[in-house]
Parts: sequence; structure tokens; C-alpha cells
Amino acid sequence: MEQVEEAVRRLRAGEVVAIPTETVYGLAADASQPEAVARVFALKGRPADHPLILHFASPEQIGAYAAIPQPEVFERLARHCWPGPLTLVLPRKACVPLAITGGQDTVAVRVPKHPLTLALLEQLGRPLVAPSANRFGHTSPTCPEHVRQEFGDQVWVLEGGGCEVGLESTIVDLSGEGWRVLRPGRWLSHQLEAYLGPAKSHQEHLPRVPGALERHYAPRTPARMWRPDQAPSQGRWGWLGFEPRSGLECLLMPTDSEGYGQRLYAALRELDERALDGILVEPVPEGPEWEAIRDRLRRATSGDLESFF
Ligand code: TXA
Ligand code: MG
Repeated sequence: MEQVEEAVRRLRAGEVVAIPTETVYGLAADASQPEAVARVFALKGRPADHPLILHFASPEQIGAYAAIPQPEVFERLARHCWPGPLTLVLPRKACVPLAITGGQDTVAVRVPKHPLTLALLEQLGRPLVAPSANRFGHTSPTCPEHVRQEFGDQVWVLEGGGCEVGLESTIVDLSGEGWRVLRPGRWLSHQLEAYLGPAKSHQEHLPRVPGALERHYAPRTPARMWRPDQAPSQGRWGWLGFEPRSGLECLLMPTDSEGYGQRLYAALRELDERALDGILVEPVPEGPEWEAIRDRLRRATSGDLESFF
């Protein structure tokens, strides 16, 4: 717990610190210190209009920062999913600076599950902003080593081992009537639907989510989904799939969706380091439990690589 105390000290002093969560590592700053929040944007190279998530020690603290238009739904989700990989978008209260919400009238909030980060939040007694601890557009870090690959010794890391989920939290918009998934994650749409009833279908006032940009979460090496009619005729190619394929540098993935999600970003980083001409990704199953993985793979492979074949 000495590490937690050091993290608290550094955060109180206005420093940016990397923290473990059950999803991915976050680049944390005390939300009440505007200069510290600005440093998070600067370190990441993140555009000012891309909002940050506020992280809390417990759901009871959230009412001071956000309005809760559907208290029953909020309570049920809070009880069922927190601490855990779910983020809720709610109307912002005036005490939350627009610099945190990217100028929007809503604010994203979550209670993360990692024991060190929960202890840290409790000791700090204030929420932390914490985007994924990667430079803008890169894959998210799922272990301390990844954070160091992104920021070297610019950022002190609260060491909390590998991330259990490995993909960013599910984001649910609960800012008006009904609900809608803005970013899929471990909490799946069909699970939430079974729990909350059907999602809102119409898309007016869709809030900005940079995760919704194509080519977000992408490795530097060009990557594309493999199709049976195409094979590279030359060059060194990586293969991210379930079964080995001859002539390619293979990195084999778990066949269960949870194992796959936990491993995905580390696997993309490993392939990225091999200076390959490109990465071919085997399509994953169609089932609902692969929703978040299909989403991240689609974005990581959105470039056009026809010229490589
Ligand atoms: O799992 C996670 O959520 C991780 C860990 C560290 O907690 N954090 C994370 O933060 O993924 P970040 O900043 O990399 O992604 C946050 C996403 C962005 O796509 C952002 O646009 C969206 O949350 N977001 C934040 N505030 C929002 C708002 N008011 N309305 C809609 N989307 C919002
Ligand atoms: Mg991110």
C-alpha cells in the first residue's frame, strides 16, 4: 500500500500518474486541478474536444458531479455492474469543468474495479480523470510495460499487474430518456438489454466519442481483416488468428472471447514490434459475446491495404 500512498501524494501535488484498472491502464489526474487535467491532454496528444471519464471510489459520490435523470436505472446498474467495466454518460453538474467534458453538457462516470485504484480513490477522496494511458489513436495499455512504451519515464506508474478485461469499459448513454451503448465492452448490449429492456434506437444528439473514429485503437503496422481469396505474395506478414498459417508470422489467440479480449492489445503491440509489412487478422465468431472485440478489430483494421497483395 506504500505505492498507493505515493500515488496519492503525487496526484495531490498535481502530477499525472498511470493507474491500473480492470479494463486498461489510465493516465490519471486529480479532476479538481485544471493544470493537471490539461497535462493529461498534452501528454496524450488528445484534442481538447474529446471528453474524459471521471473515476470514483463509489457510486454515492457521483450525484455531486452529475444529474441522474433515471435514478432507478442508475441504481440498478450501479448495484449490478460497479465496481466494474461500465461507464455511464449523465448530464453534467456545473462543478465539472467543460475542459473535462470536451465542452459537452454531459459527463462520463465510472467506478473501476482494481483494488489498488479503489484504495487510491478512497484515500484521495476526489474523482480522477483517467483516459487510457496511450498516445492519441494508439492501442490502450494493458500492463505497466505498455505504459512505459508509450511515455517512457515521463509518467510514474502505480504497478497493478496485467488488466483482467483488457478492453475499455462499455459506455452507456443515460443522459436523457432510455439508454444506448456508445462503446461496446465487457458488459454486452444483449446483457444490458435483458436487464434494462430494449435500447433507444434513434440516434439524434449522438454525443462525440473518439472511440467512434475509424482507425482508433490501431497498431502502427498496417492491419487488415483476412479474406480467404487474398494472400500476400511477398513481404513479411503477421497473422493474428486461432490456427497457425504457413508463411506468416503467427500469433495465436485464445478461442474464448474473454481470453481473446484480455490478450488483444498486447498481441497487437507484439506484432507491431516485429517491423512487419502488415498484419492479417482472422475474423472472429459472429456471437454476441464477441461484440466488443469485433468493434476494436474493425477499427484497428480499417485502412486500405489492397496495394500490399
Ligand atoms: O475502461 C475505460 O473506460 C478506460 C479506463 C482507464 O477507465 N478509460 C478510457 O478512457 O477508455 P478514454 O478517454 O480512452 O475513452 C473514454 C471514452 C472516449 O471515447 C470519450 O469520448 C467517451 O469516453 N466520453 C467521455 N465523456 C463522454 C461524454 N460526455 N459523452 C460521450 N462520450 C464520452
Ligand atoms: Mg482511449
